[in-house]
Amino acid sequence: MSTTLSVEGEIAVVTIDNPPVNATGRAVRQALADAVASTEHNPDIKAVVLQCAGSTFVAGADIREFGKPPLEPHLPDVLVQIENATKPWVAAVHGSALGGGLELAMACHYRIATPQARFGLPEVTLGLIPGAGGTIRLPRLVSAETALDMVAGGKPITAPKALEAGLIDEISGGQLAEDALAFAAKVMNGKTHVPTLDRSVNMPKDRGKFDLQASIIRKKARGHTAPSVAVTAVQNALSMPAADALAAERAAFIKLKSTPQSTALRHIFFAERATARIDRIKDVSPRDISHIGVVGGGTMGAGITAACLLAGLDVTLLERDNAAAELGQDRVLNILSGSLKRGLVSAENHLQMLAGFRTATEYVALKNAQVVIEAVFEDMAVKKEVFAQLDATVRPDAILATNTSYLDVNEIAAAVSEPGRVIGLHFFSPAHIMKLLEIVVPDQVADDVLATSVALAKRLRKIPVLAGVCDGFIGNRIMSAYRRECDYMLEDGAFPHEIDTAMRAFGFKMGIYQMQDLAGLEIAWAMRKRRAATRDPAERYVDIPDKLCEMGRFGRKTGCGWHNYNDGKEARAPEVKALIISEAKRKGITRKNFSADDIMRRILKCMQSEAQLILSEGIASSADDIDVVMVNAYGFPRWMGGPLHLLNADVGAATG
Ligand code: 3HC
Ligand code: NAI
Repeated sequence: MSTTLSVEGEIAVVTIDNPPVNATGRAVRQALADAVASTEHNPDIKAVVLQCAGSTFVAGADIREFGKPPLEPHLPDVLVQIENATKPWVAAVHGSALGGGLELAMACHYRIATPQARFGLPEVTLGLIPGAGGTIRLPRLVSAETALDMVAGGKPITAPKALEAGLIDEISGGQLAEDALAFAAKVMNGKTHVPTLDRSVNMPKDRGKFDLQASIIRKKARGHTAPSVAVTAVQNALSMPAADALAAERAAFIKLKSTPQSTALRHIFFAERATARIDRIKDVSPRDISHIGVVGGGTMGAGITAACLLAGLDVTLLERDNAAAELGQDRVLNILSGSLKRGLVSAENHLQMLAGFRTATEYVALKNAQVVIEAVFEDMAVKKEVFAQLDATVRPDAILATNTSYLDVNEIAAAVSEPGRVIGLHFFSPAHIMKLLEIVVPDQVADDVLATSVALAKRLRKIPVLAGVCDGFIGNRIMSAYRRECDYMLEDGAFPHEIDTAMRAFGFKMGIYQMQDLAGLEIAWAMRKRRAATRDPAERYVDIPDKLCEMGRFGRKTGCGWHNYNDGKEARAPEVKALIISEAKRKGITRKNFSADDIMRRILKCMQSEAQLILSEGIASSADDIDVVMVNAYGFPRWMGGPLHLLNADVGAATG
């Protein structure tokens, strides 16, 4: 790391160069404090520009320091020194000004940024709140409502939004460094520069609406404690003198830093970034990919197509016939127009995506695709037929991927003449949104096929996790195991709503039975019927799910499943309760009561033992990978860090 100070006429330029993200580690904090001292003492300097080298402005405090005792100088003190400098400091922001980085920019007297810059206080995503005055300075620059959103929601805003909100003073129209110098020259001979903390705070325009916004944030946070503490910090900023609010913020930050939730969230932050560090391919170059083929335009195929188009790739979507192709096309176009409506893509990008998208019914249309992703019915015979067709028609070096949920990818690979080009790319629904991509690695896959798949995942802005071939890979295998355990609990004494409620109270967005009702029960039923002949007769088998399907209860879309749905509203189903009791009786099981704790203990134990089996069999490369899968695709509460992280932590403490 190096922080340099150069002089351009009467302006000092302080440049932080601390790769990878210019975090405010101890050395940076010290260098900033030194820069304040030397520029204040130099009568030739009239203003200071603060900028960063590399791809970003300061992206926050150094998260790696959080587990260690804090070292002086502390960031809040350095920021007060900058803010109280007699010479104006101008922050020149490119990339991301996040957390401590935004707090640093707000302590400067002015802010100028590139049009692509982003500004945010993501501390809540690490189980924290800003700890260097962010909650107090922000509502002095932007409205109380925007401050509340940014502090408690953690989502960054764009430069144009920041300008509109009052967070920055100017967007650079050319070279940021030059524009920042020009800006500094403009302000250096002006009036005295008011420290942000001395400005008056922006009170809510409508107190009732503001309080409602605060209570919605608290409710949505469920078991995650940081957002609620963040709300309190903003409320303090509005009601207390700045010095008192600062002291309260700092105390809350320090307390949160050592909570199990923050430890868990930091664990997941680093685990997500470690999944793509794969020894096997560290020296292998991925191929350049521009054209993807997708076979099957149903729920998954359409989502995968949209994900690829949104990443700027061309896609040809193949379906069985014209009618199915049209349906697939509609699904894709709906997703794209939704992205346009929500402002996630520009009108120009939308047009480019439409130009890069075509549908087809003949395999020859895929002849130029460099990667083909199959997403047809979950049926080995159908998949083998598709792969044989692909083998005969697409270019011989094209990567052939399957999106199968459970099937044996080695067996699928054996259907083509060069099995080394076959891999599993297991997306999650909705595929254009879900961050996880399980990359299923068959025995014979070539290294560059693997490297290209990992690079494709990153291009799609997904987190790649490698999984070995087995029934359900990592995530579905753990989910099947704990779903089976929940079915055992039904016979043993619990009811579906009790299991769902316990899971929600733990932090899942929905319970396992609500999730099944949403997805539909018929696919799992078909799979159980297929496997019936090979099932071990000695294995405990719960017939309740089959009997539900025999009753025509397929979930939400039929108005009933594990629960009843009246006008979409969930209600307990007396028929299901009666079925459960009669099944337990038929098997001679004496039902007993389950508390929410009993339920969660059993679910977690089951998840953890399946996860350990998966690790011992080499299906997952690390415990962290398993946590990343469960947090990113199976609703495991992020602030619990994942089932294996919890195994080493105290469950009770993590909920606090
Ligand atoms: N501290 C330490 N390391 C960090 C870091 C941080 N704040 N932010 C990122 N890194 C590391 C990553 O672990 C990764 O390391 P690796 O190469 O060894 O895996 C490397 O920097 C690059 O990170 P990404 O892979 O995430 O790079 P991207 O280019 O995709 O994203 C980013 C860049 C948007 C800045 C993203 O890294 C990010 O969101 N970082 C976290 C920002 C954050 O949460 N800041 C708040 C910190 S808490 C705080 O500031 C408290 C304050 O209020 C006192
Ligand atoms: P779906 O039933 O919605 O879509 C399948 C599509 O494939 C249909 O549009 C069908 O017309 C088409 N198709 C069938 N045979 C074809 C052929 N020979 N050639 C061309 N098109 C053909 O199914 P869904 O849900 O999209 O699942 C597809 C695959 O993705 C399955 O393997 C499934 O296990 C897997 N998957 C599903 C997830 C989900 O949440 N639905 C999640 C992850 C994987």
